[in-house]
Amino acid sequence: MSLLEKSIYWDSFYSSRKKGAPAYPSQFAAFVINELADVDGIIEFGCGNGRDSEFFAAHGFELLALDASKEAIELCRSRSAHERARYVQSTAGEARDALQGFLAGKRKVAVYARFFLHAIEEAEAAALLDLLGVMLPSGSQVFFEYRTVDDAAQDKIFGTDHYRRYLEHGSALAGIERAGFSIVYQIEGHGLAKFRDEDAKVGRCVAQKN
Ligand SMILES: C[S@@+](CC[C@H](N)C(=O)[O-])C[C@H]1O[C@@H](n2cnc3c(N)ncnc32)[C@H](O)[C@@H]1O
Repeated sequence: MSLLEKSIYWDSFYSSRKKGAPAYPSQFAAFVINELADVDGIIEFGCGNGRDSEFFAAHGFELLALDASKEAIELCRSRSAHERARYVQSTAGEARDALQGFLAGKRKVAVYARFFLHAIEEAEAAALLDLLGVMLPSGSQVFFEYRTVDDAAQDKIFGTDHYRRYLEHGSALAGIERAGFSIVYQIEGHGLAKFRDEDAKVGRCVAQKN
């Protein structure tokens, strides 16, 4: 799927679900909020309908949420209840300026991305990790959750139209370390991102900037 096809796909996905955005966070966001270590703000990549961004903002965190889809960002802005949450349409590859603005004056931040690394191409994911490795202050935390290779064969509630690049968990962790982070916690398994009849096999990782 080309970048343009992906962008058309996600715009149509979010425009058809305007009334259906859940008001509650994902399991991963509930896990992450307990792991945050005195950060000055949170940056979310691939925020989608904003359910997790709004959860973090509701708990007092300053937030920058990015998504490539114009429809997703419009949806997030229309339902946002928090001035401290800023929604920006941007691909991960074009995020440098938005990141720079958000990081100004901050001691350390958290980066959060759920079901995002597997939704972008390998080159863009590697470039994003490199950018984070260069730009994040030392001690900053990153939190990723992504579908892993064993999940490829499982049935999906959202079918096969989503672009999914199933990750090998060990390789994903090695890539995060190569970019200048230390893995603090990681797990791969079922039960972490269950959604109705679908219990995806996912990898989770918490890492800290060296
Ligand atoms: C599988 S969805 C995950 C959404 C949300 N994080 C969640 O867990 O429900 C992937 C999201 O990444 C966005 N996306 C896809 N490619 C992107 C890119 N290159 N840069 C930024 N966002 C992108 C899509 O618009 C979509 O909202």
